[in-house]
Amino acid sequence: MRIPAPAKINLHLRVGPLRDDGFHPLLSWIVTVGLFDTLTLVRQPDADPLHAEAISTPASTRRILTLSSNDPSLPVDGQNLVVRAATALADAAREAGFSPSGKGGTENPLSPVSAFLNKRIPAGAGLGGGSSDAAAALIGLNRLWKLNLPMSRLSEIAAGLGSDVPFFLGSSSSICTGRGEVVQPALCPDICRWAVLVLPGFELATPAVYRRLDELQLAGPENLAGEPDWNAWARLPAVDLMSRLVNDLEAPAFDLCPALGELRRSLEINLRRPVRMSGSGSSLFTLCDSAGEAATLAEQALRVGQVRALAVEVVSRVEQAFFAP
Ligand code: C5P
Repeated sequence: MRIPAPAKINLHLRVGPLRDDGFHPLLSWIVTVGLFDTLTLVRQPDADPLHAEAISTPASTRRILTLSSNDPSLPVDGQNLVVRAATALADAAREAGFSPSGKGGTENPLSPVSAFLNKRIPAGAGLGGGSSDAAAALIGLNRLWKLNLPMSRLSEIAAGLGSDVPFFLGSSSSICTGRGEVVQPALCPDICRWAVLVLPGFELATPAVYRRLDELQLAGPENLAGEPDWNAWARLPAVDLMSRLVNDLEAPAFDLCPALGELRRSLEINLRRPVRMSGSGSSLFTLCDSAGEAATLAEQALRVGQVRALAVEVVSRVEQAFFAP
């Protein structure tokens, strides 16, 4: 089973004051974009050798899922969200009466699986790569193990893995609240269906960016006052929509990493349009009304910033085709 795991961008991200549980309340419009990791799941008897050259989970930690990846820097042990998703799903399945051996009256054993993760989404970029991989694992293993756990249960498991994971189980354009785990479907941007994604090539740590937001006292309750008319926003052309979008994590991220603030400034000047950061950074984006415009601006961004810049579809057709009912 091969599952595409798309990246996301936070079109709009407002952040309120730190809660007692250590998280911040959010109001975010999130969409998927056409940049994918791919998760391949193979039942273990057929799985070996899946990718002989790949870095594999050490035998000592092998359990229900053995992970390997094309990216040698990626942890493939219990730190990886795919491994944690598999473990959490197996625990939930056992609670629901499934057994690993298939004994005890169940026809749906939790057979060991080999997983290969082809990484394309950079880490520490605010694009939700690890979260999307985890959601792909939940969707894929729920099918492969024939668990048929309902989406509501998968969402609970997803929220336990990370604030962004439930988004990737839901609609490709969603309004996320709570700490990010409350997901409501939203219209996709109607006119601006393309984006230039700028990937500066360094990572920003999400907890550090939130901490700096608090230190700078920039997470006031006023950030969450009022809610935009999302339907009206979804109908705006790119430049009009871009000028309304806000990301409260930009100021602390640029404070931690002035080079990122500089890059954003020079992109805005040279591309002559607003440029926003996604999530807690480091990726930047601007929306476009056509594929041609996105390709031209991506080339320009590459020249200006000497950084990777990609033209990507907003809510890609690949994903729509894969997840069609
Ligand atoms: O949920 P996730 O593991 O992605 O969160 C990573 C860190 O980001 C949290 O430990 C917290 O410091 C910060 N965070 C937050 N408020 C949120 C989401 C994340 O403060 N809504």
